[in-house]
Amino acid sequence: MTGQQGNVFKEIVARKKELAGKVLILCHHYQHEDVFQFADLTGDSLKLARQAAESGEYPYIIFCGVHFMAESADILTGADQAVILPDLQAGCPMADMATAEEVAAAWDELASVCAGQAVIPVTYVNSSARIKAFVGNRGGSVCTSSNAERVLAWALKKGEKVFFFPDEHLGRNSSKALGFADDEIVVWQRGKKLGGNSVQQLRQARTILWNGYCHVHQEFLVGQIHDWRRQIPGIKIIVHPECPWEVVSEADMSGSTERIIAAVQESAVGASWAIGTEANLVNRLQRQHPDKTIRLLAQTPCTCGTMSRITPANLLWVLDNLAQKKVVNQISVDAKIAAGARLALDRMLEI
Ligand code: 13P
Ligand code: SF4
Repeated sequence: MTGQQGNVFKEIVARKKELAGKVLILCHHYQHEDVFQFADLTGDSLKLARQAAESGEYPYIIFCGVHFMAESADILTGADQAVILPDLQAGCPMADMATAEEVAAAWDELASVCAGQAVIPVTYVNSSARIKAFVGNRGGSVCTSSNAERVLAWALKKGEKVFFFPDEHLGRNSSKALGFADDEIVVWQRGKKLGGNSVQQLRQARTILWNGYCHVHQEFLVGQIHDWRRQIPGIKIIVHPECPWEVVSEADMSGSTERIIAAVQESAVGASWAIGTEANLVNRLQRQHPDKTIRLLAQTPCTCGTMSRITPANLLWVLDNLAQKKVVNQISVDAKIAAGARLALDRMLEI
């Protein structure tokens, strides 16, 4: 730690004290330790959404995560609460792979060939509020990596097929876990007529998957699993469900960031793990469990560059402004969009 960094840390502590009871800092597990140390509450996407929904007594929520998470928090908090994202460029590249316009056009195209079939839209929480509203207004639900399988099962009870945005891999992993065969799962390729499918393929599909992906989780490969098993006999492999199906099916377990943390915590002293998710979380688990062998599954850095845009410097800038009663970088979802998105988020919280 440099002297300058130490001063920033001290100033954050002092500002937090000054604003105690007014400010709640929510932090996703992928944040770097430099920011994570200042969190009041931490979690995966689902837990953070729940915590935001229950944060009624705090007028200011500082969200150390990415844009779609702050939008969800704004939708789930009261009108008198402000949600703040310390850097407005902290987005999620996967969420950006599906725009509301593209999704609406694809929906109409699908409807034109699936007449008489009930299609339920489901969106991963990693999506814009506009897509959540689109889904909410058509009877669908949001899901997170913790509950995607459950939400998919719910949707397939309501209708004959699901249109799933924007993560192809989470959609496929959840569809496979529900027992669907390969020809019941089709991929909708953005920009292609009928998503690159025939009318017959679309009519017989149970799940139709938008072809978005997370570049961080694409870095994990089946060969890495084999390498770790050769190097450390008995090692357990756990990966996030944003990883491709080949990786998930070869791993011992898969689950959301909360599930990964719980699996490591619950394992016996001396256990060995290779983990396929963002490196800041894996490094933290390594520090927290010196009695266990914990490795990042890949050799590459595997950090989420946009999550890393939240820094102690911009966190302090937000706190300094709040101390002067100024709200900067507020995330404020338009009321009409928020109402539709809330329908989809509330459905998820109920399922
Ligand atoms: P979680 O739902 O596990 O927090 O994942 C969010 C995310 O963005 C993973 O890349
Ligand atoms: Fe988006 Fe991937 Fe970063 Fe998660 S890790 S926020 S899915 S880019």
